[in-house]
Amino acid sequence: MTPTLEHLKRCSIAVDIGAARTRVYLRNSGLVVDEPSVAAVDVRSGALIAVGSRAETMAGRTPQHIRVVRPVSSGVVVDIAMAQRMLRHVLGDKLGRRWMRMSMVRGMPMPVMRAAVCMPHGSEPIALRAAVETMYGLGARKVELVDTLIAAAVGCGLPVEQPEATMIVVCGAGTTHVAVLSLGAIVSAQTVPVGGDAIDRAVVEHLRTQHELMLPSQSVRPLHQMLGGTSTTEVHGRDVISGMARTVTVETERVRSAMRTPLTAVLDAITSVLRQSPPDLVADLADRGIMLAGGSAHMPGLDLMLRQATHMPVHIAPHPDTVAVRGLGAMIEARVRPTPKDPLAP
Ligand SMILES: Nc1ncnc2c1ncn2[C@@H]1O[C@H](COP(=O)(O)OP(=O)(O)OP(=O)(O)O)[C@@H](O)[C@H]1O
Ligand SMILES: [Mg+2]
Repeated sequence: MTPTLEHLKRCSIAVDIGAARTRVYLRNSGLVVDEPSVAAVDVRSGALIAVGSRAETMAGRTPQHIRVVRPVSSGVVVDIAMAQRMLRHVLGDKLGRRWMRMSMVRGMPMPVMRAAVCMPHGSEPIALRAAVETMYGLGARKVELVDTLIAAAVGCGLPVEQPEATMIVVCGAGTTHVAVLSLGAIVSAQTVPVGGDAIDRAVVEHLRTQHELMLPSQSVRPLHQMLGGTSTTEVHGRDVISGMARTVTVETERVRSAMRTPLTAVLDAITSVLRQSPPDLVADLADRGIMLAGGSAHMPGLDLMLRQATHMPVHIAPHPDTVAVRGLGAMIEARVRPTPKDPLAP
């Protein structure tokens, strides 16, 4: 799947269509789109009512004729037509204007659009095909697919091209990818279908079973922030039986322990990736530790939980949620130096 840097240098647009958010990076313009992968559709006419953050705020609050849809699931485009409409909408005329400008400056016909798209590690051929089809629908004539793990490692500024081990854990919304990289390639990797959404579900389930409280999905994020220092915290929700608004006081340690349950799969993946890596590389990792990326790296305490479980240093990448698209952006802008093919040559 991973094309050469020479191929990527010819791309002008880099795209990461995630289960939670869609990000687009344009060469020489940077990150121009970072919006929820959500669309609101009028089911009677099929018209698109809203996309991105506006559509996300409509979730759970729509009348019957409006449906809020997510065209991407676990990093795989499951509704190509809707993903194309969503992308076209969030991009607006950003692409069109740029293309017109380029052709006017050069006095040439419209250049061919080449796109780079990052794909979850180990994606099935059908998922790769869906991503390519989505980009063709936006006018791309050539689509280069890059493993998310490589793109994220580059975006984190890890020395991926060096003969040193680096370990990266990308915890997104629907999936977590774990890999050890060295010399620009993946030495061993694993993907688990657990991400921030599964952790959120575990918190909601804990409150429902232990406190008989239903928590609206939009309230889970503020709850994460409150789990920081205090030993107890107040949570507002709806009583499971009466349906009335209710406030309960929860012990933060017990909520954190509920969050740990889905993380067991991530810890198993880390252990298994380390076990599959050569001992020399594992020795490098003991000092260097793990680079944690993906939107869920923002979750307070996640790094600490991984540190306690692995006994390895855990660093959170700067801007962890956009590392993959920014890594892809660095590749299309040729800011990544490849490993010399013949290092002994003068
Ligand atoms: N500040 C925060 N606190 C807690 N969780 C957060 C925060 N910011 C983002 N998240 C979580 O990060 C996840 C989204 O991560 P990311 O943007 O990497 O997803 P994605 O790339 O769209 O998904 P995937 O890679 O799985 O397809 C969501 O589950 C969200 O709840
Ligand atoms: Mg992602």
